[in-house]
Amino acid sequence: MRKMRRKGLASMAVQTAASTTDSTTVDLGSAAALSCRECGHRVPLGPVFACEECFGPLEIAYDFSAYEPEDLRKRIEAGPANIWRYAPLLPVPADVADKPNINPGWTKLVKADNLARELGVTGGLYVKDDSGNPTHSFKDRVVAQALEAARVFGFTTLSCSSTGNLAGAVGAAAARAGFRSCVFIPHDLEQGKVVMAAIYGGELVGIEGNYDDVNRFCSELIGDPAGEGWGFVNVNLRPYYAEGSKTLAYEICEQLGWKLPDQLVIPIASGSQLTKIDKGLQELIKIGLVEDKPYKIFGAQAEGCSPVSVAYKAGHDVVRPQKPNTIAKSLAIGNPADGPYVLDIARRTGGAVEDVNDEQVVDAIKLLARTEGIFAETAGGVTVGVTKKLLENGVLDPSLTTVVLNTGDGLKTLDAVAGTGLTATIRPNLESFREAGLA
Ligand SMILES: Cc1ncc(COP(=O)(O)O)c(C=O)c1O
Ligand SMILES: [Zn+2]
Repeated sequence: MRKMRRKGLASMAVQTAASTTDSTTVDLGSAAALSCRECGHRVPLGPVFACEECFGPLEIAYDFSAYEPEDLRKRIEAGPANIWRYAPLLPVPADVADKPNINPGWTKLVKADNLARELGVTGGLYVKDDSGNPTHSFKDRVVAQALEAARVFGFTTLSCSSTGNLAGAVGAAAARAGFRSCVFIPHDLEQGKVVMAAIYGGELVGIEGNYDDVNRFCSELIGDPAGEGWGFVNVNLRPYYAEGSKTLAYEICEQLGWKLPDQLVIPIASGSQLTKIDKGLQELIKIGLVEDKPYKIFGAQAEGCSPVSVAYKAGHDVVRPQKPNTIAKSLAIGNPADGPYVLDIARRTGGAVEDVNDEQVVDAIKLLARTEGIFAETAGGVTVGVTKKLLENGVLDPSLTTVVLNTGDGLKTLDAVAGTGLTATIRPNLESFREAGLA
């Protein structure tokens, strides 16, 4: 089983770039090294993403030993109202907030009492609304980290394979920082995502294929002279990029008064976000910024792209790739790189992975809008829909504090709610108003 997992990871990694930068010359704050998630092998910080020993994925290892919890908490609370308040816990230099960046984060944690009433949640229901980021998705968080790594490693072009939101986030961050950007997406994405990715003036390339084809192409490009000097935020800069999702965990806990929630419902595409939210929560516990107590992590997928949910329900610890077919295009990754780790986390924390069909996604988008005034993209429809389903099935405990993530903005996926529009068209007089039954 383990062997099969590694094989999957190796094919994801395709090309192991050489470490070009000596860790002693790299200032990425408390980030100390890259460490293999499979075998623990450590290498100096550099633009590498796969272990030279076993092809396992690399992630950032930190030295937080100097931090005293009370001092750190005060320092964070005195910081800017964006992700850089958590700079001491991220792979970024101390002066990061002074550099041109789109400064995402510190989005609203909405106490969703109306939705809670409708769903029968009594323990406190919150929506972490990441549509409030500069390019209207959580992807600004991860791109902000990758940009800092790109600066340190001397890349001048930012790139990515994207299901849509990431392309926009890279375009905006590159524009602000004065980088060239060239990003790759499946050719048939929603118009809102395409415009959002193109408007910042970088190059936007549609690939005839699905996300997994786009990702394979980018891995090839990294190994080719044509891709030299390019920082692919979610490939050769992936260890840095991924850390950005930890800021969701930090914010949620700080906004709850430095407390862990009991249950979190998180969408899964590659699974990176979910695994790093767990990493962030674990760090807060270890450092002593929150009191240690159990929490459960629930993963959410669309039925039309549910490789992790299917594996979870079958009791497998490997994820069989699928060909996506769902309106939740931002989550349409059929071969999720972090799938096995998501399974580990759901099982370790006592959570679960569930999926909902497209109709349930649309209903959930409308439910959230109607109850809380939050217009979510399809990924938010997936998390709210899965929350509803898990409550109905008795898997989520309604008496516990629950945080549901909305990771993107409904204006980017208008097609999903096509048909939502005018209640009536009337002539500009009272008679017509009454005739329409609106009085
Ligand atoms: C809106 C939105 N939410 C969630 C995700 C999931 O991200 P991950 O690949 O980290 O699982 C994505 C990925 O593209 C996304 O665009
Ligand atoms: Zn390894």
